[in-house]
Amino acid sequence: MNKNYQRYTVTAALPYANGPKHIGHLAGAYIPADVYVRYLRLSGKDVIFVCGSDEHGTAIPNQALKEKTTPQAIIDKYDSLIRDCFYKLGMSFDIYHRTSEPIHHQTSQDFFLTLHQKGLLTEEVSEQYYDEEAKVFLADRYIVGTCPKCGYANAYGDQCEKCGSSLSPSELINPRSTLSGKSPVLRPTKHWYLPLQNYESWLREWILESHKEDWRASVYGQCKSWIDAGLQPRAMTRDLNWGIKVPLPDAEGKVLYVWFDAPIGYISATRALFEEIAEKKKKFATPQRDFGKIQKDDWKKYWHNEETKLVHFIGKDNIVFHCIIFPIMLHASGEYILPDNVPANEFMNLEGDKMSTSRGWSIEMHEYLEDFPDKPDVLRYVLLTNLPETKDSEFTWKDFQAKNNNELVAIFGNFVNRALVLTQKYFDNKIPALGALIDVDKNIISELKNFPSQIAFSLESYRFREATASLMDLARLGNKYLAETEPWKLAKNDLPRVGTILNLALQIVANLAVVCEPFLPSSSKKLKEMLAFDGTDWTKTGSIDLMKAGHPLGNASLLFEKIEDQVIENQIKKLNDKKNAMELASLPAEAAKPEISFEEFSKMDIRIGKILKAEPVEKSKKLLKLQVDTGIDVRTVMSGIAEHFSPEEITGKQITILVNLAPRKIMGVESQGMILMASDKDGKLRLLQPSEVVAPGSKVS
Ligand code: MF3
Ligand code: ZN
Repeated sequence: MNKNYQRYTVTAALPYANGPKHIGHLAGAYIPADVYVRYLRLSGKDVIFVCGSDEHGTAIPNQALKEKTTPQAIIDKYDSLIRDCFYKLGMSFDIYHRTSEPIHHQTSQDFFLTLHQKGLLTEEVSEQYYDEEAKVFLADRYIVGTCPKCGYANAYGDQCEKCGSSLSPSELINPRSTLSGKSPVLRPTKHWYLPLQNYESWLREWILESHKEDWRASVYGQCKSWIDAGLQPRAMTRDLNWGIKVPLPDAEGKVLYVWFDAPIGYISATRALFEEIAEKKKKFATPQRDFGKIQKDDWKKYWHNEETKLVHFIGKDNIVFHCIIFPIMLHASGEYILPDNVPANEFMNLEGDKMSTSRGWSIEMHEYLEDFPDKPDVLRYVLLTNLPETKDSEFTWKDFQAKNNNELVAIFGNFVNRALVLTQKYFDNKIPALGALIDVDKNIISELKNFPSQIAFSLESYRFREATASLMDLARLGNKYLAETEPWKLAKNDLPRVGTILNLALQIVANLAVVCEPFLPSSSKKLKEMLAFDGTDWTKTGSIDLMKAGHPLGNASLLFEKIEDQVIENQIKKLNDKKNAMELASLPAEAAKPEISFEEFSKMDIRIGKILKAEPVEKSKKLLKLQVDTGIDVRTVMSGIAEHFSPEEITGKQITILVNLAPRKIMGVESQGMILMASDKDGKLRLLQPSEVVAPGSKVS
C-alpha cells in the first residue's frame, strides 16, 4: 500500500539460539533487512531495526540433550556466537535482544492475558503424545516421524524440513520420541487455542484484497493456499518445562508456544530499546540521529501508530507465522498495526545441494569470518547479487571468486583507484577544478543523476538484487568514463582537461561512497576515509558537487583484493571434508557380537610388538609382508593394510598383535599372527598403539 508513512519498524526473524547460523540465513533475511534500513537512514527516515535471539521452543532443550548440557548454556553460547557474527558482518540493529529477558516474558504474558481476558482464546482438552519413559508430553520437535507429504523419515512434529510442510504431531507416520526413541502414547491434556478460522474473512480482505499488488507473488500465494485450505484452531500453549509460563492459575507445567512468544520478541525488543535510550544507557545505531527527547513510552509509536510502516524480513519457512498467525494476534489484541509488507525470500542452495547445518553442507557465518575476517563486504555483495527473491538460488565458491575478482576488484576498486592515483600524481592529491564541459562529460552527468533514484526505487520495492546490480553499474559508468576520456594520455598537453575529467570522476566516486553504504558498509567507510569525505545524505546524491574543487583527499589504498584459485579450492575441499565427517559421525556403530565368557577371552594372547620391516607383496594390492618383533620372537605376518599404509610409514611403528592365532598360508607365505587395527565407519584403518612406548612383548589384557 502506498500510504504516506512517518516512520518505520523493520524486523529480521529472530534466529533460534540452538546452533550457528549459515550464509543462507543471511541471504534470507538479515542482509536485505540491513540494506533496507541503512538506505532509509541515509534518506533521513525515522526507522528502528530490531532483532534478537529466539531462545524458547523445543529446539533449545533438544540441542542441550545433544550437547549434554543445559538449555541455559545452549542459549548463552549461541546467542553470543550469532550476535558477534552479525555485528562483524555489519548488521546495524538498533537492538539485538533476547527472548529470555524478563521484559520479554512480561510482554508475552501480558499479550496472552489480553487475548484471554477478551475471551479470544478457547480451552480444549485433547489427546497428545506422551513419552512414558521420560514422563513428559512431547511437543513439536521432541517428536519425529515420517512426513505424510513427502515420506522423509525424520520430520518434526511441527514441520518437515525436507519439503517444508507445516505439520501437527498427529499427522506423523510412525512417531517416536527424541528423548527415549520409543513410540509415544496418547494422553489427554488441556491447552489454549487461537481460533484462526474466526479471522478468515478479515484475512481475506486484508491480504487477498489489499495486498495482491504489493506483496511478493510467492508470499501472497502461500497465504492464499493456507486460507483456501481452511484455517484451524492452533494451540498457543505447550506442555514443556522450557519457555514462558502460561500466566493462568490452572496452567502448571505449561508454557507459551514458541511461535506465540517469538514474534512478540519484536515488540519487547522495541520496548527494551526505548527503555535503554530513555535511561541514557544506549544510543540509536545511527549516531547522527536525534529525534528529540526520547521517552520510555515512545516505543508505542512504532507499534500502535498507523503512520508507522512495519516490515518483516524473513525466510519462506516463516511466512505463515508472519502473515497469518502473528497478524491475527496483533489484530485480536486490538491496538497494534499490521505489517505493510513481508518480503520473504526463498532458499539459497550451496554448490548444487540444499544448505543444512546438521548435514554439514553449509558455510556458517563464523566459519566464513574465521577465514575471511577482513571481507565482510565481499560476502554481503555476493549474497546480494544472488538473493533468492523469486526462486531458490545458489552460492558457489567459484562465483564468489568471480564476483570479487571481476566486479568488486576489476570494476569498483579499479575505478576508484585510478581516479585517486591520477589525482595524486597530477594534482597534489587535491580535487582539481571543473573546466568547460564537452558532450562525453554532459552525458556522464545526466546518467549519474538517475542512479540514486533508480536504486532507491528498487530498494523500496524490495528488489535488492536489482539495486545491487545498479550499484555496480554506477561503478561501471565511472570506469567507462575514464576509459573513454583516457586522462592519463592528456596530462602532457592539456592538464586543465585532465582536471575536469578527474573532478567528474571523483564526484562519481563520492556518489558511490554514499550510495554503496547500505550494501558495503565497511568499504564505504574506507572509501570515505580515502576521500576525506563524510557525506551521509542520500538525497544529495546524483549531483556533481558532493566535493568542492581544492578539497584535499586522504590516502589511497586498495578497496578490494583479488582472491586466488588456491583459496577457493581450499574452501571447496573444506566443505566436502565437513560433510564427510558429519556423515561418518552420524552413522550408527556396528552392533555388538554375541556374548563370550572370560575364559574364552583369556585364550587370546595379545602383545605389543614393533614392525622391523615392511615390504609389498607381488601381485597383491592389499597385502604387506611384515617382520614383527613380538618380544618373544621375530616373525612374519601377512597383513591386509597396503591400501592404508606405505611400507615406509609403518616401519618402526609399535603395533598390537594377536600372537597365538594358528598360522595360515597367504600367497604362499606362512603368516604367524594378526595385527589388530581400529577400523573407522568408512573402513579406514588406524594403528592401535599404547599411549607411550612399551617394551615389545608387553601383554594386552
Ligand atoms: N526462530 C525462528 C526460525 O529461525 C524465527 C522466529 S521469527 C519470530 O525459524 F518472529 F518469531 F521472531
Ligand atoms: Zn516432508
